[in-house]
Amino acid sequence: MCGIVGYVGRKDAVDILTKGLKRLEYRGYDSAGIAVFNDAGEILFRKKKGKVNELTQVLEKEPLAGTIGISHTRWSTHGVPNDVNAHPHLDCKSEIAVVHNGIIENFQELKDSLIIEGHNFASDTDTEVIAHLVEKFYEGNLEEAVRKAVKELRGSYAICVMHKNEPDRIIGARLDSPLIIGVGKDENFLASDIPAILEYTRDIVYVKNGEIVNIDVENVTVKNLDGARIEKAPERIEWDIGQAEKGGFSHFMLKEIFEQPEVIKKIINTRISDDSIHFDELKIDEDELVKARNIAIVACGTAYHAGLTGKYMLEEYTRTPVWADTSSEFRYRDPIVNKDTLVIVISQSGETADTLAALREARKRNAKVLAICNVLGSSIARESDGVIFTHAGPEIAVASTKAYTAQLATLYLFTLYMAKLKCSLSEEKIKELLNEFKNIPSLLSETLSRYEVEGNEIAHYARDFKAYYEKSHTKSFFLYLARNINYPNALEGALKLKEISYISAEGYPAGEMKHGPIALIDENPWVICIATKSRTYEKMRSNIQEVKARGGIVVAIITTGDESIKSLKLNYIIDIPEIHEFFSPILIAIPLQLLAYYVAREFGYDIDQPRNLAKSVTVE
Ligand code: F6R
Repeated sequence: MCGIVGYVGRKDAVDILTKGLKRLEYRGYDSAGIAVFNDAGEILFRKKKGKVNELTQVLEKEPLAGTIGISHTRWSTHGVPNDVNAHPHLDCKSEIAVVHNGIIENFQELKDSLIIEGHNFASDTDTEVIAHLVEKFYEGNLEEAVRKAVKELRGSYAICVMHKNEPDRIIGARLDSPLIIGVGKDENFLASDIPAILEYTRDIVYVKNGEIVNIDVENVTVKNLDGARIEKAPERIEWDIGQAEKGGFSHFMLKEIFEQPEVIKKIINTRISDDSIHFDELKIDEDELVKARNIAIVACGTAYHAGLTGKYMLEEYTRTPVWADTSSEFRYRDPIVNKDTLVIVISQSGETADTLAALREARKRNAKVLAICNVLGSSIARESDGVIFTHAGPEIAVASTKAYTAQLATLYLFTLYMAKLKCSLSEEKIKELLNEFKNIPSLLSETLSRYEVEGNEIAHYARDFKAYYEKSHTKSFFLYLARNINYPNALEGALKLKEISYISAEGYPAGEMKHGPIALIDENPWVICIATKSRTYEKMRSNIQEVKARGGIVVAIITTGDESIKSLKLNYIIDIPEIHEFFSPILIAIPLQLLAYYVAREFGYDIDQPRNLAKSVTVE
């Protein structure tokens, strides 16, 4: 995820473009850059590793002036975060500048053939191929050259392009990455998101996939890939700036929950092609992976819960012994890992101190370490033998949501990848599972659409809980029960709830209830039971009956259409669409996250920044 802004007008473009970038920093902040036309119509640019503030410091020392330009704040995907890989990227003659949000999947083959044709590349990015493609196709009409260039691209993009020979305009294009047009008076804008330009205009046109935009000071035209004009009227946005940064959501956490279908779609687009799974940045030989006699998964908090789910996945389909451990335990207990062990460390931030120490410990013992990580260039990504990035984009809310489901999705694909290497599943079975996997984004969207309006069922249950909690003189608490591959989701649901609503919550494997927690059941606890269709469904039904018999309040997460379970006189029901049991944790995570969110909201807590917690825990 990156943020882009383009401006064509009569005001100081540098001020507008850098302010716009600051409002898009939630989309990434590895590096930032800007390009403007000077009075002579030449392209001048500045770019710098780090946040937008680093760029503005450069601009103070080496100012730029102009009224037309483009800018970018980066979330690195291809190429480490440094000055050279920062956008904008230029063609061979520095006549064309491009900023890009997205991933060009076929960049390597395009780059190889452009090099053969004589183009010189300066960076390691996928984006640079766009500048060179536009250069290749340019015959005096930038819009036409961009149209030809994007037809060559596979993957996702939102781009702004400028050319020295046409210093009065910017061309934009989009496929699967957001792009909006801001329509002003004597000025027009392009941006990844509304907050970047809300200070200047509230009249917005949403660019759709396959559309090419041409803006100058007075005109905005939108055409399709065949060059046919598309008439689009601007929509008036009434948000204030605070609301806009959260994309209209009341909190980053809610925004990130609703981003999950897009995140999983991106993982699918990046990892699966021609029914095969690709981990281009993995860097551990396939032989080494096959050779591993056992796998240890090590992580903290939510990432640990994803790892524990990974244990179920990998054992079931690769028939390799797997254990999962929290990093803080692993590092201090003389773990049995050696050259025959594959250690998988999982971390959203890539900076968690305990996980980093566990990684170093594992490498000291000659194990191969694979990181599943969200942040490119982070310590954990750099120090591991191999890495798979989760592509969840920046996660701002302290309570992890989309990073968790991105970790789960990555672990699923890694499991199927390993199953293929180890021949533990047939090609047909892998294909069948991949096809099921590809349905997840639409099932996530379907699930989320049930809970997007105010006053939805889960919000209503949260309101009831607050009333109940107060009536019980704060004796109420939450117990989460599940079995098998959803047991880690019970832990995650409880963690989510306690970290943002400060109410006691425990997760348990439902079969363990009779060995202790059942003593807690009276009329006070709310027991969240994950009872979707699965091989342990009947067992979960029995657990629900045991809770009901002792007066507990049951909130059951069930499969849509399961009428028979309703005979158990459940107090509250959350239903989710039918999904293969193996993949169900991703879908079931949604109501768990939403329940935590709405309970915290009922109590009026600071959801995005809960007390005592930090997003990246760099201390032991
Ligand atoms: C919970 C949460 C934490 C993190 C944990 C590990 O919502 O965010 O439990 O999962 O601190 O952080 P990373 O994944 O950055 O290593």
